[in-house]
Amino acid sequence: MRLERPDAQGRFGAYGGRFAPETLMPALLELETAFEEARHDPAFQVELSELLTTYVGRPTPVYRARRLSERLGLALFLKREDLAHTGAHKINNTIGQGLLARRMGKRRIIAETGAGQHGVATATACALFGLEGVVYMGTKDIERQAPNVHRMRLLGTEVVPVETGAGTLKDAVSAALRDWVASVENTHYIIGSVVGPHPFPWIVREFQKVIGEELQVQLDGSSPDRPEPDIIVACVGGGSNSIGVFYPYAGTGVELVGVEAAGFGIATGHHGASLGAGTPGVIHGAMTYLLQDDAGQILEAHSISAGLDYPGVGPEHAYLKDAGLVHYESVTDDEAVAALHLLTETEGIIPALESAHALAWVVREADRLAGRNVVVNLSGRGDKDVEELERWEHG
Ligand SMILES: Cc1ncc(COP(=O)(O)O)c(C=O)c1O
Repeated sequence: MRLERPDAQGRFGAYGGRFAPETLMPALLELETAFEEARHDPAFQVELSELLTTYVGRPTPVYRARRLSERLGLALFLKREDLAHTGAHKINNTIGQGLLARRMGKRRIIAETGAGQHGVATATACALFGLEGVVYMGTKDIERQAPNVHRMRLLGTEVVPVETGAGTLKDAVSAALRDWVASVENTHYIIGSVVGPHPFPWIVREFQKVIGEELQVQLDGSSPDRPEPDIIVACVGGGSNSIGVFYPYAGTGVELVGVEAAGFGIATGHHGASLGAGTPGVIHGAMTYLLQDDAGQILEAHSISAGLDYPGVGPEHAYLKDAGLVHYESVTDDEAVAALHLLTETEGIIPALESAHALAWVVREADRLAGRNVVVNLSGRGDKDVEELERWEHG
């Protein structure tokens, strides 16, 4: 059974919780109260919904990819989060949390980013609400997602390079949490996925579930053009776009598949498949599946896509996995790149490398999925990846 909200300790079954330093506890409790009040405040809901419509461009369309469907022998529908303002689903969460920050009187915003999409979406919310923005980003990600770094700076947000560890998303989250411990009085941390201590995983899911709720209306079975989905597929980094599209469908009988990064291959140890190859432990304030060694040290993840290059995953996914409500699979860097090319060449849509993972799984499983109605949540557009892809393929 899906859980409408975590329990009083912030747990989804055995997972989640609030493993945070004492200094952050008041802020986490304040945030929970503020969100609880906002949820039931019609004025907040009206403002959020108006911004989602007029600013973000929701509802995002569902596109029937006819040429690719024919190629694969199934009916492929794309939920076009790539068409949301700033080019990914991340904006759904940053607009919501930006409104919450304003409500709590916090004038400074911090965030972490991997692919840069959450950073851009946060910088955008800061510009929109007149808030000061600081985004932490690993040095490796700054290099491979350079276009998004320029966008954040244009939007007036400071990008702070994080050199520790592998210079990727995990290190950026740790740096943002360190900042927050020191600045919590005037600062709100807009976390970018369904990760972190309670109440973040719950709040981010609530702001992202609009994706699945729209899909239920758009593919409602009312005509042959709008068939109900047989299967919904989404990529899983921290897990926000996937939980957003899955949550309304969890337990309804529609098959749900989350696709993690297998990187160079699970057997090589260089991947980001926390659910597929990890074990339970605590990372960034929550109990969940993560990549760790026998001594409990967190391992470096690897993925060609910066947004999936993370050794943990949102605790609600850990719950959904154990409950058998969602199946988790993985695809390699090479498979994702091939799927990116395929979609680009057959449909004229360049997906983000993250989103290409979801599509790659459908390509691999096409024979088994023959004739079925398959929805891929296209979480973002690939503009940010064009340069990196050039380097990957041509050195
Ligand atoms: C386009 C896109 N899709 C997916 C992700 C992965 O995040 P999540 O699993 O939270 O949706 C990211 C993260 O940066 C992203 O930019």
